[in-house]
Amino acid sequence: MWRERISITRGDITTQNCDVIVNAANEQLSRGGGVCGAIHAAAGPGLERECRRIGGTATGRAVATGAYDLSCRHIIHAVGPIWHEDSGEQEDELLASCYAESLRLAAELGAESIAFPCISTGIYGFPAERACKVAFGALRDTLPELPDLREVRLVCFSSADFETYEKVFGQMS
Ligand code: AR6
Repeated sequence: MWRERISITRGDITTQNCDVIVNAANEQLSRGGGVCGAIHAAAGPGLERECRRIGGTATGRAVATGAYDLSCRHIIHAVGPIWHEDSGEQEDELLASCYAESLRLAAELGAESIAFPCISTGIYGFPAERACKVAFGALRDTLPELPDLREVRLVCFSSADFETYEKVFGQMS
């Protein structure tokens, strides 16, 4: 059952004891603010050097790097879509792709646990409840093909996000 592998928690992603933590990155993989800034600050300058060597990736895609000073084994940088006035299903699909790609990449790297932030819902402006539904839909669709990934932790920074995630998860079949 995919549901049994999901946990929802409130906190800081940089302190999660998971094999992989996911960064809400930008296409340039440059050090930004929000969760990305927190991950770079905690990982140290080696992360920025590796990101610069990789150069970037497209919206909806994900790439893996080392974890440097973080206690996880890998960081996966997923580039979520930016929400605009006329955004809709295309952005939903790009966001779902961030989750699916990150899960597949984590499984390829032999990870058993992965922690996600609420990708795109901060600086990129994606409505939180909509993003949450997309995230759970992607987990439900992708996890059955990845039996070795035993724990997917959704890390909410705010209590409002935590409540939204708990509510939406309760409504999911
Ligand atoms: N741990 C967990 N979640 C966090 C943390 C943290 N330490 N800090 C913030 N959040 P955002 P985006 C939550 O803006 O919208 C960056 O500059 C935050 O409350 O970090 O995908 C990148 O480089 C929100 O729920 O990412 C990109 O340029 C969630 O993380 C751009 O921002 C995502 O907010 C990406 O924007």
